[in-house]
Amino acid sequence: MAKMGTSSRVAAAIVVVLGIVLSLAVVCNGGKTSSFVRKVEKAVDMPLDSDVFKVPPGYNAPQQVHITQGDQLGKAVIVSWVTVEEPGSNTVLYWSAYSKKQKSEGKVTTYKFYNYTSGYIHHTTIRNLKFNTKYYYVVGIGHTERQFWFITPPEVGPDVPYTFGLIGDLGQSFDSNKTLTHYELNPQKGQAVLFVGDLSYADIHPNHDNVKWDTWGRFTERSVAYQPWIWTAGNHEIDFAPELGETKPFKPYTHRYHVPYKASQSTAPFWYSVKRASAYIIVLSSYSAYGKYTPQNQWLGKELPKVNRSETPWLIVLMHSPWYNSYNYHYMEGETMRVMYETWFVKYKVDVVFAGHVHAYERTERISNVAYNIVNGICIPVKDQSAPVYITIGDGGNLEGLATNMTEPQPAYSAYREASFGHATFDIKNRTHAYYGWHRNQDGYAVTADSMWFFNRYYHPVDDSTSAQ
Ligand SMILES: *[C@@H]1O[C@H](CO)[C@@H](O)[C@H](O)[C@H]1NC(C)=O
Ligand SMILES: *[C@@H]1O[C@H](CO)[C@@H](O)[C@H](O)[C@H]1NC(C)=O
Ligand SMILES: *[C@@H]1O[C@H](CO)[C@@H](O)[C@H](O)[C@H]1NC(C)=O
Ligand SMILES: *[C@@H]1O[C@H](CO)[C@@H](O)[C@H](O)[C@H]1NC(C)=O
Ligand SMILES: *[C@@H]1O[C@H](CO)[C@@H](O)[C@H](O)[C@H]1NC(C)=O
Ligand SMILES: [Fe+2]
Repeated sequence: MAKMGTSSRVAAAIVVVLGIVLSLAVVCNGGKTSSFVRKVEKAVDMPLDSDVFKVPPGYNAPQQVHITQGDQLGKAVIVSWVTVEEPGSNTVLYWSAYSKKQKSEGKVTTYKFYNYTSGYIHHTTIRNLKFNTKYYYVVGIGHTERQFWFITPPEVGPDVPYTFGLIGDLGQSFDSNKTLTHYELNPQKGQAVLFVGDLSYADIHPNHDNVKWDTWGRFTERSVAYQPWIWTAGNHEIDFAPELGETKPFKPYTHRYHVPYKASQSTAPFWYSVKRASAYIIVLSSYSAYGKYTPQNQWLGKELPKVNRSETPWLIVLMHSPWYNSYNYHYMEGETMRVMYETWFVKYKVDVVFAGHVHAYERTERISNVAYNIVNGICIPVKDQSAPVYITIGDGGNLEGLATNMTEPQPAYSAYREASFGHATFDIKNRTHAYYGWHRNQDGYAVTADSMWFFNRYYHPVDDSTSAQ
């Protein structure tokens, strides 16, 4: 009997050892690190006299025209623009093929930053628009008028197809221009951009040269005057510069880019939500307090239970600093926010989280690290079909260049990673399926370098990992 006992203990030990070996295999056996070889050259900012920065001709002509969603449902649009010579009119004139011309009035603001004084920044919200309708609009009334158009989203509902573009950390280099061009010419045809933060990179220039905010506004106008970009604040929006006497964070960003935060009962423009077609989009701020008792924490705690998946099956979260990132850049910067909110994301079955910040591309499997507490030692992310896929898309092309240094070996949770500039699209087909594709700038416009069929976590919570199949 004693002998039997020993051999069964040996057998148990073998099982334990095997178990450790197997779990190590899971830990170390990562997904794909792309072998794509790009030209390694520094990203270079486009010079001030570039075509993309041209000031529109005419006295007091509106420039830097941009739009974003103006309410929670997509029936309002915030139109913003800058005039230089004088304030001029805050009126937006707009119409569709089915409606007469209407006017909406907004407000004008300016700000100073060190020795820079902004132009006249106008924000006008137009409301009560019809869904799924093309509207034309005119700004610059009384001086030089400029006309643009946009298409409102379809009415919010569970099976409404819709295609989002994804861009992050764009900046204004030649590579940024390639990223934007690829997005525009992608046959997948994004209808609105989910922008995951870091817009102009003005702050990395001497005195945070705010002229770079103006050039960025002119550069991106060709897209954002025609379709809404949903904004997320990144670290390059903070513009905290006590050495210049600038101690109010986010000053240029909040003056230039308005978001409809009050419509989702948020108390600050850095965290808010919008519904668009079949998606519920929650924008979070990596650079505003998110700990227990803070405004953002209280808001998110009330916000997640509000999401009605029968109305909006797709739950998408945007933030700047990624929680899961296996590059040697900004490593673990997202960790404290992950500790605060990851259990909520799993509980409420977030479909996908998009982040930027790391200037490269990475997509994870559905994983979570919610079992971990500071005493149990269970600190390895595990496969979790209730967890989101985490995508880092900070590869817009800014001056700081690519993040090429990766942790080795590739962690098991990392499904695909590559240090190339690019953008992505998230193409919702219906309540169960969405097609996601990442595009690198070196390829043709229609080529997806990484792709995945997303199965909705609420309606079709079937394993959609790309390695298990
Ligand atoms: C930016 O891209 C556009 C569209 O491809 C092109 O017309 C323009 O010349 C480019 N500008 C620069 C400075 O690269
Ligand atoms: C702001 O100050 C810097 C030097 O500190 C100078 O180079 C720049 O021309 C000034 N800009 C304006 C608008 O005065
Ligand atoms: C959720 O949305 C569905 C579809 O629009 C609606 O019928 C239902 O009443 C909503 N549920 C709640 C709790 O609001
Ligand atoms: C990559 O990052 C690691 C960790 O920060 C560092 O030790 C290593 O020297 C870096 N390698 C290169 C080639 O920069
Ligand atoms: C949802 O879209 C997917 C992908 O296009 C398709 O295969 C599936 O049949 C669609 N479901 C329904 C109910 O139409
Ligand atoms: Fe960043």
